[in-house]
Order: sequence, then structure tokens, then C-alpha cells
Amino acid sequence: MTKEQAKEIYADLGYLSQPFPYASAPFLESYARLLGLSPASASTARILEVGSSYGGNLISQALFYPQATFTGIEIAPTQVSVGKTYIDQLGITNLDLLEGDVNESHHHLGTYDYIIAHGFYSWVDEETKNNFLRLCKKHLAENGILYMSYNTYPGWHKMDSVRALLEFANKDINTLNHREKVRHGKTVASKLGALMLEYDTVKNQQTSFLQSLRQILQKQDCYVGHDHLEPVNTPVYFHQCMDHMAEHGFTYLCDCDLNLSFPTVYDEILRTQLQELAPHDPLAREQYIDFMLNTAFRKSLFTHKGATPKRITETSVTDADFQHSLEQFLFTLRIPSEHLEPIFENLAKRMDSSATKALVDLFQQEGPHFYLKHNTLVTYTGEHTIPDMCLPLLYQFLVEHIIQGGISLSVLETEHPFKHHIFEEKKSYIPERYIPFVEIMPQEGVNAYIYPGNRYNDPISDFNEEDLEFMKLLSKPTTKHDVMCKIYEAMTEESISPLALQQSNKYTMILAFYEEMIRRMEYFGFFEVDETQFN
Ligand SMILES: C[S@@+](CC[C@H](N)C(=O)[O-])C[C@H]1O[C@@H](n2cnc3c(N)ncnc32)[C@H](O)[C@@H]1O
Repeated sequence: MTKEQAKEIYADLGYLSQPFPYASAPFLESYARLLGLSPASASTARILEVGSSYGGNLISQALFYPQATFTGIEIAPTQVSVGKTYIDQLGITNLDLLEGDVNESHHHLGTYDYIIAHGFYSWVDEETKNNFLRLCKKHLAENGILYMSYNTYPGWHKMDSVRALLEFANKDINTLNHREKVRHGKTVASKLGALMLEYDTVKNQQTSFLQSLRQILQKQDCYVGHDHLEPVNTPVYFHQCMDHMAEHGFTYLCDCDLNLSFPTVYDEILRTQLQELAPHDPLAREQYIDFMLNTAFRKSLFTHKGATPKRITETSVTDADFQHSLEQFLFTLRIPSEHLEPIFENLAKRMDSSATKALVDLFQQEGPHFYLKHNTLVTYTGEHTIPDMCLPLLYQFLVEHIIQGGISLSVLETEHPFKHHIFEEKKSYIPERYIPFVEIMPQEGVNAYIYPGNRYNDPISDFNEEDLEFMKLLSKPTTKHDVMCKIYEAMTEESISPLALQQSNKYTMILAFYEEMIRRMEYFGFFEVDETQFN
């Protein structure tokens, strides 16, 4: 896309620039470590995003990781200038949005530990793709990690016909701007869809096309305009992308959806059959997985050629070195607690074990965050020894559900492992820099361009006044009762002692509100600890 095209399309359609959890340095660091590499620490890393739009994927991360430095390069000038305005308003000083074209000289760029390109590769022409990869090769640190997402076949085939239809509807029309073309294309496509539904034979033969058409017509104009009507959209097969990356000197690590890379760890039939189809080629096995699943989108990680990532296999689970390497992570269980029992029972059956009860009880009682230390499981409440007979089951559970997404991981901060996850009286506080963030991001105007994210870059849609007031109460280490008394005072404009509050008829209501708000702050990842309180 040329600068003029980008300018025009983004001016006509607008764009909501969002945070993506997997397109963040902490996520990439964890995955690279999981594969046995030694990437830079995300909290102090140098991060570059290519095609950074308004900066929505970087802004929240820059706030949460003030020691890291962030650079975005973006061709569309308005996206850069609008993004910069909000970055200034938020008081962010470690994020630089640069107007630039990857096809032009980039001597002003430095060396980066992480390079991120989300929604870029598929939307630029071949020359730009190559220049982008040259840029990455030159500016990625030796142990750097490159994240690149792209549209893939065979999954995109079902959308190709809809794109062709939207393009055809606009073929000989030169008077419409991009937004109007989207509207016109959608109108024509929905009329054709309605016509097809009139004929039973057509309806039955074309179910897949009609389903894609319906899905796309339901999407907002902005999304359709960018995803389906931009001048370039070139999905590729996974193997084609791998060849292209190898040509540019990159080694593939894995997909951010580990199910696309390592499902054979937990599925024996798949393992045996794929092994037979491609005995010596794990990338070919991944391509077969895409054919099976009709994959339409990939989020791949790469590093420089020459690195030796260790792919996760069924033998990793029992490998002592791999088990030991899991000690570098803090895990968060995302599986609802009522699902744990059947999951463990099923696993025990497969592994011919009966040692499930202790583990189910432990996970149900101890809350979601934990880490491993010499075969003990450590949670916020302390260390829990795992009986030897339960260990194989524990590791199998852990690895399978890391792959399936039921357990997320981040790099363990050894000093205070739970400090961002759990509020501690007299120790936790919320730094002031998050106040303008919560104040400004939901404002009308800002929220048309940029979405905020939490510490893990999950998008947040509902920052509100209550969050703001509550955060102010936690600007210094404090106690639950102090905060609750202040809530009472804010509600009634009367002061109250902790003892009197306990006897007040508002106690239960205030407690429920307090607990809900603490959970929100923990979810946002706003808490820090005041180190002096530990001495
Ligand atoms: C589909 S958007 C993705 C934006 C963002 N990364 C995201 O995922 O939300 C692609 C972005 O790349 C920018 N872009 C396109 N060609 C470019 C080039 N040659 N150099 C720099 N940026 C470019 C576009 O202006 C656009 O903001």
C-alpha cells in the first residue's frame, strides 16, 4: 500500500488500534523461554512494532513496563500524529511513534529485542514484504524474537470469493471513497446472498460461501474495509511463509496458538499418523494440521537462523531438564474449577494413574496463580509438596494445558512473584501513572482510535469513574479497613472508624464492592509493591 492509499483508506474508514496479548514482549519472552531460548527480559527490552497504527498495541505496554523502550513505525501520517497526541497526554515517555515506510531507509532505527508486526505481512505487496523482512533481519538483536501474524490458506479460501464479490461490485466505480465502496459492496453482496437463498439447490450447494458471506456482512464497515477490501490481501500457505522466512535468514519457533504447533503432545493418534506422513519434517506436520483445521490465520514466532529452539514433544513432559525449565514461570490457571475433576480423571485414565484427588483439591483451593520449585507447587499461601506418585500427572496436566491455552504463563519475578496479581495489605499500591490512563482512554474521541489493555495486553472495554476513585484510595500501601472506611465516607460524607463500620448496616455492601474492585485492579495488573515495606 502506498502512503497515499494508506492515508486515504485510514481517513475514510478510521481504525481501532487495539492491544493484542500475544503481540506483547512479555508473552513472546515466555514462549521463547519455553522453547529453551534466552531472549531479553521483556521488562527492560527494546521493542519495535512495524505498522503500528495509532500505537494501540504499544501504549498500554509502555505504561506497564516503564523500563522498556518502545518504537512504532507507521506509514499513515494521521495515525502517527493522533497517536502521539494521546501518548503525550498520557505522560508516556518511553514510546516513540515514527512516521516511516519500511521501503525507505531506516537508518534512524536501532537494534530491537522484539519486533512485532501484527496484521502487516498479508496486507502489503511482495516488495514491501521483502523490505520488511530485510529490516527485521538487520534490526533484530542476536537473541531477538520476531512476531508476525498473517492470513493463511486453506482457511482464507472461503473468504476469497467474498472479497472477489465485494471487489467486483465496485469494479467500474471511481466516484466512491473507501467507506462508500464498503457500503456499496455490502449492499450488493447481501442482495446476491438473498437471491441465492431463494433456490434450495444453490442454498445447499453453497453453504460454505453463504456462511462466510453472512459472517462478513455482519462485521462493521471499518473491519470489512480493512480486512476484505484493502488493495492488497495475500494469504499464503504456512509452508510458503516458512520458505520466505528461511530465505531471509529466520528460524521458525512456534505459533502463539500452541495447538497449531504441538497438538501431538496430547493426541497420540494425530502423533502417529502425522509422523507417518512427514517423519522428519515438523513444519510439514504443521502444514498438515492447517489442512485438517482449515486454518485462516497464524501468529508465528521466529528468531535468527542458527538458533536451536527445542520443540515441545510428548517426551518433553518427562524430561528432567524441561521439567526444571518450567520453574522459570508463573502459571495462571484459566480452567474453571468445576472442570478440573473430569480433566484429571480423564488424564489419570490415559496415564493409568489414580493420583488425581490431591491435585484437584490443591488447584481448587489455592486460586489460579502458582509456580514450581523442586517439585513443590508454590501458591500465594505457601509451598505445597506434591507426592511423587502425582508428579507425572502434574507435569502432563501442565504441559497439555499450556498448549491448549487453559494455563497461561509469564516469567517468574523471583523477588515478589505475586506482586502484580494479588493485593497485599500495607505492601501493594497503584502508581500514579495509571490515573491519566484510566481517565483518558474511555473518553469519547480517544476510544474511537485506541483501546486500552491490561498488563498482559488483554483489551479492556470498561474503565470507569469508580475505577478511578478506587485507584486513588490505593495510591499508597494501605489496609482493607482503611479503604472500606474511605468508601463509606465517600458514600455518606461522614467519617467512620473501622469498628463502627463493622457494625454498620452498610458493611456487607461495602465489603462486596471492595472485593469486586480489588479483583478488577488485580485483573488490570495495576499493583506494585512498596519495597520498603518488606524490610
Ligand atoms: C492492518 S493495519 C494493522 C495495524 C496494527 N498493527 C493492528 O494490528 O491493529 C496495517 C498497518 O500497516 C501500515 N503500513 C502499511 N504499509 C506500510 C509501510 N510500507 N510502512 C509502514 N507501515 C505501513 C498501515 O498504514 C496500517 O496502519
